[in-house]
Amino acid sequence: MSRVSIVDLQRMKAEKKKIVVMTAYDYTVARIIDRAGVDVILVGDSGGRFALGHEDSNEVTMDEMVIMARAAGRGAKRAMVVGDMPFMSYQVNDEEAVRNAGRLVQEAGAQAVKLEVGSEYAGTVAAIVKAGIPVMAHMGSTPMANIGAGDFRSGSVDEEQVWRDARELVRAGSFSLLLTGISADLGERITEEVTVPTIAGFGAGDNCDGQIGVTHPTVGLHPDELDRRKSNYGPVAVALLDAAEKFTQDVRAGKPVRSRRDSG
Ligand code: KIV
Repeated sequence: MSRVSIVDLQRMKAEKKKIVVMTAYDYTVARIIDRAGVDVILVGDSGGRFALGHEDSNEVTMDEMVIMARAAGRGAKRAMVVGDMPFMSYQVNDEEAVRNAGRLVQEAGAQAVKLEVGSEYAGTVAAIVKAGIPVMAHMGSTPMANIGAGDFRSGSVDEEQVWRDARELVRAGSFSLLLTGISADLGERITEEVTVPTIAGFGAGDNCDGQIGVTHPTVGLHPDELDRRKSNYGPVAVALLDAAEKFTQDVRAGKPVRSRRDSG
C-alpha cells in the first residue's frame, strides 16, 4: 500500500474527489482512522488539549509535538502525516522555524508540516519549503490568531486579507491551504482560484477540495460527551465508558474476565 502523496492530493483536486483529513495524536487512533481510509492525518496542536490535558493548545511544546507525531506516524500506514508547528516554534525567526520543521520530519517521521500563517509569514513558509519540507498553510480564524480572545471558531477575519494571503502563501510554496473560520463564499472563491488543494474546517463551506474533522470532538471521544451529546458521530466516549463499567462490574463480581494475550 503506497502512502498518499502531494501528487495524489493534487490529482484528487483535479478530479473533484473529496480529500478527507482527520487528527490523531497517538498510534491507536492513527491506526484506526488510517484503516477508515482518511487521506491525511494531522497531528494537530489540539492534541495538547485532547491527548495531554492542557488548558489551551498554545501550551504545547515542540518536544510534545514530536512525541505525538512520532506515535501517530507509527499508526499511519497509508495516510500522509502532517505535523503541526506549535506556538513559538516558528515565530522567533526563520532559522528556528526550519530547524523545528525539520524535527517533525526527521525525529517524528512526518511527511509535511502545518503552520498557522498569514502573508507576513510567506518568507518563513518559503524558507521551510526551500529546506525540502512541504508546508500546509492554515489560514482564516485560527487558534493562534485568537490567543486570549476566546473561541477561534467565532473569531472575525478580514476576508479580503485572507484572499490576498492565500495567493501569496501559495506563491511561497504551500502545497495545501487549511481554511478555518471563514465564509463558505470565500472558501469556494479561494478553492477555484488556487492550484493547490484546500481543506475546510469550522466554516469555509462544502465547496473546498476537502474537509477536516478534529477526531475527538467529531467522534465524541471526550469526557464532556458523557453528559451532553454534541458529536455527530460515535459517541466513542460512551462506548468506552460502557465497556470500562462492564469490565469493572465483572471483576468485582468475581467473573472470569478473558483478556487477549496480545492486548497488553
Ligand atoms: O490542531 C488542530 O487540530 C488544528 C485544527 C483546529 C484544524 O489546527
